Amino acid sequence: MHYLSNLHDKNIISKVFLLRVDFNIENAKEIFRLQASLETIKFLLKRKTKIVLLSHRGRPTLHKKNKKISLKIVIPYLKRNLKARLTFFNHFDFKRIKQTILSKNAGTIFLLENLRLLPEELANSSRLARQLASLGDYYVNDAFSVSHRKNASVTQLPKLLPSMAGLLLEREISNLKKVMEGPKKPLVVILGGAKVIDKMGIINKLKRVAECFLVGGIIANTFLKAKKFDIGKSAFEPKMLKTARKLLKSAKIILPTDFISQDNK
Ligand code: 3PG
Repeated sequence: MHYLSNLHDKNIISKVFLLRVDFNIENAKEIFRLQASLETIKFLLKRKTKIVLLSHRGRPTLHKKNKKISLKIVIPYLKRNLKARLTFFNHFDFKRIKQTILSKNAGTIFLLENLRLLPEELANSSRLARQLASLGDYYVNDAFSVSHRKNASVTQLPKLLPSMAGLLLEREISNLKKVMEGPKKPLVVILGGAKVIDKMGIINKLKRVAECFLVGGIIANTFLKAKKFDIGKSAFEPKMLKTARKLLKSAKIILPTDFISQDNK
């Protein structure tokens, strides 16, 4: 894998970097992911490049009002925290976008609207990847949390441009390596929230090296359901009950001892 931190090409002034970030936030107060992306953006700004930020937000098919999942929401935070001009595109007319990028000075940041507003993003379309690639010279992935998705801007686009991992992704990989290859013992993994299918995958991957897993949220509900607890109408992942039963055999899964389930009525 190539890393941005090792980029040897010194001639990158005014070059256009397509930076895949994860700005998948619920509301403007949730700044953790935005904060995490600043390091790579600043690294590229310092080298006088042009930066095109690409991200998804939400899952449009689940949102009737697409207005609610616009990436406009991140503009105030970026403006407050970056000393650079920012241009937001609220359309996907790639020819016009390209012209605008070419017309602006080095050190400008561009933000494309939520890529998942285009069905081709989730469909992993190579046509969309080609349209995106036409905008830039390099591709940088700094979105660890979406790297497991077969989406056009994640898996197709890097095939079309010189591609590398950003500073955040590099750090995530190095931390994961430490955990996988020589963790400090005892290793306790804490997991919560939804997206049970992905997280069961993580448990499966780490079960050899971890002493135990403290689980909460919908992932805990799924284990509780697999143990035949009455969890009322609380959410769980039916597709993962079999996997949950298997994992429970290892005694490494520590379930909440006290919880309230959603009323059955
Ligand atoms: C996340 O929040 O887990 C990532 O942004 C991926 O989002 P997704 O689960 O909707 O693909």
